[in-house]
Amino acid sequence: MSASSWHLRRRSFAGRGVALWVGVAILAGVRIHGPDHPRPWCLLAAGILLFAAGFETTTNLIGNGLAALLANPHQADLLRQQPALAAGAVEELLRYDAPVQTNGRTVLESTRIADVELEPGQVVLTLLGAANRDPDQFTHPDSLDITRTGSRPLSFGAGIHFCLGAPLARLELQIALGRFLERFGEYEVVAAEHVPNFQLRGLAALVVKPGLAL
Ligand code: HEM
Repeated sequence: MSASSWHLRRRSFAGRGVALWVGVAILAGVRIHGPDHPRPWCLLAAGILLFAAGFETTTNLIGNGLAALLANPHQADLLRQQPALAAGAVEELLRYDAPVQTNGRTVLESTRIADVELEPGQVVLTLLGAANRDPDQFTHPDSLDITRTGSRPLSFGAGIHFCLGAPLARLELQIALGRFLERFGEYEVVAAEHVPNFQLRGLAALVVKPGLAL
């Protein structure tokens, strides 16, 4: 780390820790199968699921959101000047760089999507991050625009499995960004290193230096 830049490196135990807890949750879940499952195992599995689903995702949302704002200093400045834009900014940052890039569904009955016939049992990989940049849904999809209205990103999924923690995650990003913009000045992104992960998109490290002129 040089004296003129900050190297913000994520604590390395986080990814491995979440993987471990997902494993424990699966084992706990195995124990709760059957009609006479003991209640503590249910609670343990549910608690670990909430932790695993809600920890790395939100960490990545805050990192990705911060990096995107710093890389778009006019947008950061707009939010600093007009904190009332915070809710829209959160929605836009969720769209612009989604922490969960892919999701999956198993086809239950024959159906057709666009020109593709799907049969029961087939597994479909949904590209949430790509859908969030669909030009038919979002004007100038590759631009970060915190004043965008009517935007409905797919970052929390859709349908009956829509993310249980969405309100909490939105609130966490709103608070984190608000505090950052209140306390710190302008920073320029020097380098961003991503965790090599196909599904969960997040930063391993973010190098910034102070004082970008607008
Ligand atoms: C930025 C943060 C988060 C993102 C991007 C995210 C994303 C998602 C996505 C894409 C799904 C799958 C939805 C689907 O299959 O249609 C999901 C499900 C879920 N999320 Fe989140 N999540 C986040 C934070 C959280 C938090 C903080 C919690 C809990 C405290 C949480 C708990 C859950 C649970 C329990 C499910 C499963 C819901 C179900 O199957 O009915 N998530 N999330």
